[in-house]
Amino acid sequence: MSGLKDAGHLFRFAGLFVLAFLVFLVVRAYVVPKSFGEYGHYRGAAIGEIAAHPVKFAGRQTCETCHTDIADIKAKGAHAHVNCEACHGALAAHADDPMSVTPVKPDSAVLCARCHTASAAKPASFPQVDPAEHSGGAPCVTCHNPHSPIIGSDFTANAAKGGAK
Ligand code: HEC
Ligand code: HEC
Ligand code: HEC
Ligand code: HEC
Repeated sequence: MSGLKDAGHLFRFAGLFVLAFLVFLVVRAYVVPKSFGEYGHYRGAAIGEIAAHPVKFAGRQTCETCHTDIADIKAKGAHAHVNCEACHGALAAHADDPMSVTPVKPDSAVLCARCHTASAAKPASFPQVDPAEHSGGAPCVTCHNPHSPIIGSDFTANAAKGGAK
């Protein structure tokens, strides 16, 4: 019996916990945004906010509907799986209105080096060069067709050579 009589401090301790929990609930109700949990464990209103962002990338299918010549060359070359906007940047504005928004041609000496500069961190199977040694500062497109970069593989050029390769 004396055990229960001396348990007062335990009840006060438990009371503190209950109080802290109530404070937590009040603060939580105040700081958690209203739409949280509407659809899942995130802020429901975020969907509308993200959807309202303007579209920046057109996607390669869109580019290909107009630039069919380049799409045909690219589809047969080593860059078949590199998307247009990975090199040209986001161009939805141009795709929407090609006559008033003219893209700037990428500077190949900068662009190509971004992916192909030799580095021990890249898989050995990935084609890589030391740009200074390989091209001596000349733009890469002096020799490579950016849309079908293996020299001699551009099928328009191959067609001229009688379609070999
Ligand atoms: C609705 C048709 C259309 C779509 C879609 C379109 N383009 Fe174009 N593009 C054009 C036309 C027409 C021109 C030439 C007029 C000009 O220079 O603006 C052009 C010009 C360009 C040029 C510049 C050519 C130069 O000589 O300097 C680039 C680069 C280009 N487009 C890339 C793209 C990419 C990448 C996409 C996809 C994101 C794309 N285009 C989507 C019609 C289109
Ligand atoms: C690997 C990078 C790369 C990819 C992928 C790429 N381009 Fe290009 N593109 C370039 C570069 C670099 C130039 C500039 C060439 C020059 O300076 O003569 C260019 C030039 C162009 C031009 C100008 C006309 C010409 O032939 O020079 C158009 C139009 C164009 N690209 C459209 C596209 C479209 C459409 C796609 C996707 C189907 C695409 N590009 C994919 C790098 C790329
Ligand atoms: C966004 C990254 C990217 C950019 C930018 C890029 N490339 Fe590539 N390139 C690739 C990929 C991916 C491959 C395919 C690699 C593979 O097949 O393993 C490739 C393949 C190649 C090959 C074929 C090598 C071979 O023998 O198989 C050459 C040559 C090449 N690129 C040159 C260029 C040139 C020139 C430019 C600039 C106009 C350029 N690349 C820009 C990613 C890129
Ligand atoms: C003077 C012409 C010339 C210029 C400029 C040039 N290249 Fe090349 N490049 C070649 C030739 C030729 C080959 C093919 C050699 C071979 O079969 O290994 C080649 C091969 C490549 C390869 C494939 C290497 C491999 O191991 O398969 C890549 C990647 C490449 N070049 C990227 C570039 C980049 C990036 C630039 C710009 C910094 C550039 N090239 C500029 C002529 C050039």
